Amino acid sequence: MQITFSTATLPKSGAVIIPLFEDGKKSKAFTDINTATDGGLERAIKAAEYKAKKGSILEIVAPAGLDNGRAILIGAGASKDFSALDAESLGGSAIGKILSTREKTAIFALSGFTTKKLDAADLAAHVAHGARMKTYRFDKYRTKEEKTDKSALTKIAVHSATTKAKTVYATLDKIGDGIFLTRDLVSEPANVLYPESFAKRCNELVKLGVKIKVLNEPEMKKLGMGALLGVGQGSVRDSKIVAMEWLGGKKGEAPVAFVGKGVTFDTGGISLKPGLGMGDMKWDMGGAGAVTGAMAAIAGRKAKANVIGVIGLVENMPDGNAQRPGDVVKSMSGQTIEVLNTDAEGRLVLADALWWTQETYKPAAVIDLATLTGAIIVALANEFGGMFTKDDKLAKQLGDAAETSGDLLWRMPLTKNHDDMIKSDIADMQNIGGKGAGSSTAAAFLGRFIKKDVPWAHLDIAGMAWNEKDKPTIPKGGSGFGVRLLDEYVRANFEG
Ligand code: BES
Ligand code: MN
Ligand code: ZN
Repeated sequence: MQITFSTATLPKSGAVIIPLFEDGKKSKAFTDINTATDGGLERAIKAAEYKAKKGSILEIVAPAGLDNGRAILIGAGASKDFSALDAESLGGSAIGKILSTREKTAIFALSGFTTKKLDAADLAAHVAHGARMKTYRFDKYRTKEEKTDKSALTKIAVHSATTKAKTVYATLDKIGDGIFLTRDLVSEPANVLYPESFAKRCNELVKLGVKIKVLNEPEMKKLGMGALLGVGQGSVRDSKIVAMEWLGGKKGEAPVAFVGKGVTFDTGGISLKPGLGMGDMKWDMGGAGAVTGAMAAIAGRKAKANVIGVIGLVENMPDGNAQRPGDVVKSMSGQTIEVLNTDAEGRLVLADALWWTQETYKPAAVIDLATLTGAIIVALANEFGGMFTKDDKLAKQLGDAAETSGDLLWRMPLTKNHDDMIKSDIADMQNIGGKGAGSSTAAAFLGRFIKKDVPWAHLDIAGMAWNEKDKPTIPKGGSGFGVRLLDEYVRANFEG
């Protein structure tokens, strides 16, 4: 997709998009086009009783007086609290409409479309970013699609009174690349994306200045990673850990570490999952996907911070050699775990990945992301990621980053009582709790692999990694949730 910014007059072909506040005065772009169409916009608004509610669209095909194929009015809601995220939703919603037409060019007519809260350059850049995010499509396996079934859109032209938008957009473009990488990884089927091929994909980040380290099974065995290796034991695919290092900050300054669950397919193992919906478990590497995309974003925009991304990659399969319910494994930390359910595998992978990350990098803070429990979807649906931390400062930082980025989080309980629920009769702990609070007992389990005084938060993104239905800036499928959150968290707290 080609994206341009211009202050010149509007192109004469393509779909021209005109945003409109429901309360405020009309923009210069609106007035100009209304004049060019001899009052056509106002007539259409009246005829359709159009109120310019947030995201609502009024399409005028072949408007008289213009050569453009369409004029599309899009509602921006109330002007006074119009934010950067609103600008993105507006851009995405308008593009969503155009993707179902045969238009080749989308023109955002933003001249004079201003609001108090948001600088005109920021506004234009965020409109463009939202628009691009909506154009994502994972179509590499469609071999028989008719050309006419695909969108014809190749160009997004943003016309606003500022050229500074280009500079602002350059950063958003890098973050967008990270989001697209995460969506690609999450969408990929498990016969294509497995630990080894995932590790290879991480090499794409080398050109951004990221250093890649890969741990193979013999090294992990030597390090004593019995918890992670136990999960991968039933798979013909070798397990891996990949570390991605971006050192853009002060030399010697302790990094922040992101750790992702990368179960490239989760059958449940011997505690086999039911068949219905099992295909969803190709995206059980969503945490690892988010960490990888975030590293691409952070390195891509050359963040002045030291950031480490670590992903634990395994495939959880039933097999003659698979681990059994009741097996006891020893983790790298030395703690033993009774594996009562082989489907509670993500925490086993993270146990060793978290411990190794702390031993290797002595991070200033650790944040893990994982599609860890179905229970978090029961609690929060597809509205929020669950945030578990005992550190109020970190909770505030992540909460703020969530609000700014739009990757929303809701803080969940994590107490000593949850930790008591994973006591084992024969080992240091068991990998499942009792009947209730499944997401909190999972978090408590992870907490046992965090060293004393290391600020740590666990983000359960099982409800967020995959989008069941279209949203303004996210088409159905892999969402890229977490990329902007982590990027924003780094920007706000580590780039002083
Ligand atoms: N990968 C699943 C969690 C999951 C469920 C992610 C639905 C995305 C959508 C995880 O490994 C799992 O199986 N968790 C079990 C834990 C239970 C056995 C304690 C669950 O949530 O049922
Ligand atoms: Mn599982
Ligand atoms: Zn899983």
